[in-house]
Amino acid sequence: MTMTVAMVMLCMMMVHANVKPQKDFNLQKFAGKWYRVGVAYDSPSFVPFRSKIKASMGTIAPLPNGNANLTMWEATPFGCVSKKYQYERASVPGQFTYFSARHNMVKDITVVETNYTDYAMVLKHKVFNREYTQVALYARTLSVRPEVVQKFKTFALSRGLPRESIVIPPPAENCPPSGPGR
Ligand SMILES: *[C@@H]1O[C@H](CO)[C@@H](O)[C@H](O)[C@H]1NC(C)=O
Ligand SMILES: *[C@@H]1O[C@H](CO)[C@@H](O)[C@H](O)[C@H]1NC(C)=O
Repeated sequence: MTMTVAMVMLCMMMVHANVKPQKDFNLQKFAGKWYRVGVAYDSPSFVPFRSKIKASMGTIAPLPNGNANLTMWEATPFGCVSKKYQYERASVPGQFTYFSARHNMVKDITVVETNYTDYAMVLKHKVFNREYTQVALYARTLSVRPEVVQKFKTFALSRGLPRESIVIPPPAENCPPSGPGR
């Protein structure tokens, strides 16, 4: 058991070895509403969904201990659903881990770059049969400036993601149902 935990931690450290989070990451400033306006992901199971994904909305609620709750809205074939994730802070500010119930494993999140008022680039790792990396671009509004999109694409390519894995999805329609901020 201890061995397994140690190995998981070692893997996570290796994964993080060449990725640094946003300098002086500030969770309070990161709080609030974000739209996921870009995704780069080359997991084979995700490929069929690439053309179907929508720019969904999420909210980050910081907790006093440095952890955060993420509520993410997703337009699915079964309607608009909200999912909650509990992000636990790692030792380095800007890095979190969370338990993915869907994949039954701990994943890790790094906020690679954000200026809080406009955009954030977030890197997600999982170690499965092989290690998949996902890069997401978050923005405070649905209209992102082309420079920011370009920055995101450059970063995704630099992480070894193929060009065709980079998706800039259209806005979700009526999701969340009340549609605040749309
Ligand atoms: C964070 O999520 C936990 C578990 O769902 C919940 O108990 C807690 O009230 C949430 N806190 C905030 C500030 O949203
Ligand atoms: C955040 O980035 C946007 C776009 O690059 C820029 O217009 C804005 O001034 C930046 N805000 C801060 C606080 O740096």
